[in-house]
Amino acid sequence: MSENNGRAMLEIRDLRAEVEGKEILKGIDLTVTQGETHALMGPNGSGKSTLSNIIMGRPGYVLTGGDVIFKGEKITGLTTDDRAKRGLFLALQYPTEVPGVSVVNFLRTAYQAVKGEQMSALAFRKHMKEQMDRLGIEDAMVQRYVNQGFSGGEKKRNEVLQLAVLQPEIAILDETDSGLDIDSLKLVAGGVAELVGPELGVLLITHYQRILNYIAADRVHVMMQGRIVRSGGPELASELEEKGYEGIREELGLEDAPNAAKPVGAPE
Ligand SMILES: Nc1ncnc2c1ncn2[C@@H]1O[C@H](COP(=O)(O)OP(=O)(O)OP(=O)(O)O)[C@@H](O)[C@H]1O
Ligand SMILES: [Mg+2]
Repeated sequence: MSENNGRAMLEIRDLRAEVEGKEILKGIDLTVTQGETHALMGPNGSGKSTLSNIIMGRPGYVLTGGDVIFKGEKITGLTTDDRAKRGLFLALQYPTEVPGVSVVNFLRTAYQAVKGEQMSALAFRKHMKEQMDRLGIEDAMVQRYVNQGFSGGEKKRNEVLQLAVLQPEIAILDETDSGLDIDSLKLVAGGVAELVGPELGVLLITHYQRILNYIAADRVHVMMQGRIVRSGGPELASELEEKGYEGIREELGLEDAPNAAKPVGAPE
């Protein structure tokens, strides 16, 4: 089933991937449906960003097995732009600077590319202003060059604005809460919570349970060593906070390694 009462579905099936010859993803199964929020947690180096980059088709990541299916269509052969046009969105863990291009111009270009529709500057301004008001973003920020000289918090807020403006069906947010002080966390998380609804599915990659105080997750998944090792309800995030990854590792009898990408030929 690829459509769920007309809601868009992102289906990840037995996904395997390598980076620079090293196997990073070792068979990931995950389905995110429009309207749902899934949190993906896991230690540094477990493969969370690799998974998001593979889903989005970013260069440098080699798919070695499995499928990514979006709205019933296999998308692994498509360019990143084509995936965005179909309604997928990725907020990067480390947003990049675009010198010389203002946020407003960047978003207008991105909007037209993704929606495939020409929109007058005036109409776009109106759409953008609505989203800025929703998120409490000031005019001065969108006149600046994309991410240039932005603080960590401003970069993350800018990603949330991009999400609001582009209105994807499924969004992957890679550590949109990292590096934020308490007030910025409230702003950014509150912004995402404002956007969550029946029209949006979210895969929220995070290290901290605290963001789930603002954004309610339907499901929580724990990724370790390139696999999803546990899935559950929101209580799993609290359990994790208590036990740490060490506790989960012990329970599951996993070896203690920051990233256990084994040498080629090593037994599983
Ligand atoms: N472009 C790359 N070149 C070399 N190695 C890479 C690259 N991207 C990822 N890796 C390796 O893949 C593994 C998984 O990295 P990934 O960034 O997916 O982890 P993560 O779970 O997102 O970690 P974090 O929580 O620190 O963001 C790491 O060992 C990392 O060094
Ligand atoms: Mg990462």
